[in-house]
Amino acid sequence: MRKIVFIAIVSAFVFVSCGDSKKEAPKTAETPKIEKTTKEVVQANPDVATGKKLFNSKGCTACHNEEFKVVGPALKVISAKYAEEKGDILKFLQGTDAAIVDTDPGQVAIMKSNLNTMLVGVSESELKSIVAYINSVK
Ligand code: HEC
Repeated sequence: MRKIVFIAIVSAFVFVSCGDSKKEAPKTAETPKIEKTTKEVVQANPDVATGKKLFNSKGCTACHNEEFKVVGPALKVISAKYAEEKGDILKFLQGTDAAIVDTDPGQVAIMKSNLNTMLVGVSESELKSIVAYINSVK
């Protein structure tokens, strides 16, 4: 029994070490970092891919860009703020949590009036995909 536990621990350690060395690899690649990470995450996660499609098709891109502020804050700024504050974008989109990225009343009103109309008929699982996409933008 002891032997089995020992083997299990050793193989877990070997497994973790291998995982680490693989993670290091992409850092040496020369592709611009932001473009690469977003693309990789989108390909690796079907939710993120669906969310990105919805974000485009629902017209969110009229006011939001991944990298810079348009009318609304950049997605990378939103994802960073929600990570920092441990906020829940889903609750914001569902109208139960207040805005935390840009709390200017005029700005909040613009976003609110759009949310109410744009998200009609969008299911909770689709909303979760949109949230996964926003959170994937670093
Ligand atoms: C007409 C412009 C406009 C459109 C269209 C729009 N937004 Fe926004 N959005 C804003 C503005 C302005 C803010 C900043 C005010 C705020 O944070 O509530 C914002 C903020 C946000 C935030 C951050 C909320 C916070 O905590 O501050 C999220 C998340 C967001 N938008 C998601 C979306 C999604 C998803 C869509 C598409 C369904 C969308 N937006 C469409 C203008 C827009």
